[in-house]
Amino acid sequence: MTDKLPVPDPIAQQHSDKLMQIIQQRIAEQGGKITFAEYMQCCLYTPGLGYYSAGSHKLGEQGDFTTAPEISSLFSKTLANHIKDVFTQLNEANILEFGAGSGTMAVDILKELELKSSLPNRYYIIEASADLRERQYKHIEKSLPHLCGRIIWLEQLPENFVGVILANEVCDAMPVHCLHFSNDHVYERYIEYQAGQFQWCNGPLSNTDLASHAEIVKGIVDNNDTISEVNLAAKAWLSSLADKLTRGAIFIIDYGYPQSDYYHPQRSQGTLMCYYQHRGHSNPLILQGLQDLTAHVDFTSLAQVAIDSGLDVDGFQSQADFLLAGGITELSLNNEHTDELTLFSQSTEIKRLTLPSQMGETFKALTISRGLNSPLVRCQLGDRRYSL
Ligand SMILES: C[S@@+](CC[C@H](N)C(=O)[O-])C[C@H]1O[C@@H](n2cnc3c(N)ncnc32)[C@H](O)[C@@H]1O
Repeated sequence: MTDKLPVPDPIAQQHSDKLMQIIQQRIAEQGGKITFAEYMQCCLYTPGLGYYSAGSHKLGEQGDFTTAPEISSLFSKTLANHIKDVFTQLNEANILEFGAGSGTMAVDILKELELKSSLPNRYYIIEASADLRERQYKHIEKSLPHLCGRIIWLEQLPENFVGVILANEVCDAMPVHCLHFSNDHVYERYIEYQAGQFQWCNGPLSNTDLASHAEIVKGIVDNNDTISEVNLAAKAWLSSLADKLTRGAIFIIDYGYPQSDYYHPQRSQGTLMCYYQHRGHSNPLILQGLQDLTAHVDFTSLAQVAIDSGLDVDGFQSQADFLLAGGITELSLNNEHTDELTLFSQSTEIKRLTLPSQMGETFKALTISRGLNSPLVRCQLGDRRYSL
């Protein structure tokens, strides 16, 4: 499949070569191999060179992939309805968005909350990529100059946070460890550099958290020959959020499965995917810094971290149910000034976001909260917490 990928231009190739040298050096310094998580971290987030940290276009129709907020503002407007439900239960209204991409979701949520007279006091953004932070700032400054004062980029989590935390397609962009279950043994998959190229090799598990995770999932996987991923970074991230969330809710939207599906023998090649110019393939060992690397999210692990941290898990829905409960269809019909062409393109967008054959089923929404007095009723439509 990779032989059909477009060839990078010489400048892009030079950029990738520089990153490859850095990774080779890292491998040499660490005695010949690095974990896949470290390799993925380098490929995505090496300052100035990593996929998310360097200045290419990435998101949107002209980039490598398109996310829900880029497909339609209806996604973010619907999310605003969910957010408003939480705000009505709080005496302080703030939003903290992780990994805000191009800033489109922040702009559309703020526009909708302004219409509903429910603006947050502060809209915080925590973004791993300095390049995207810059892009977000420019987009927000241009689209919402009068609200710029409310938007603050943070390097660290705020203390005693009250409000709503958002992460759309963020956990899938965190570096994952790779495991190989083979002949009743579990190995970690590392990256080495041999004969002028990067390649996979097996080794012992690099930390005890991986061993605990492997112990949990070994009852589900085919222990004879399965490759899969473990997102320890997402678990640590959620646990740190739990420490800071005093009252409010967390909406995590991403593609993924409950653990029984994630590690199901049918998925024996794992969920790791690479995207280069809208072409998906499965080889992360090429196009370093030029292609996106991503793995599906194990939502059971996240729900378990939430419970262990004393948070409530309020709902686990398909993206379709989350959006329909949030009123996506009503939002598109609400505006009497909408012309027929807009209505037609909105109905196409809603189909893309909600049809099971498109994003409606693969993407899920996990809603977590602390200290809310009433249930979040929109999270009850098609709730699948039983599957976690
Ligand atoms: C696939 S993009 C999604 C962007 C945006 N949320 C959207 O839906 O269009 C992933 C984003 O998450 C950011 N990211 C990944 N890990 C992060 C972390 N630990 N903290 C903050 N941002 C992170 C990336 O830099 C990037 O902006």
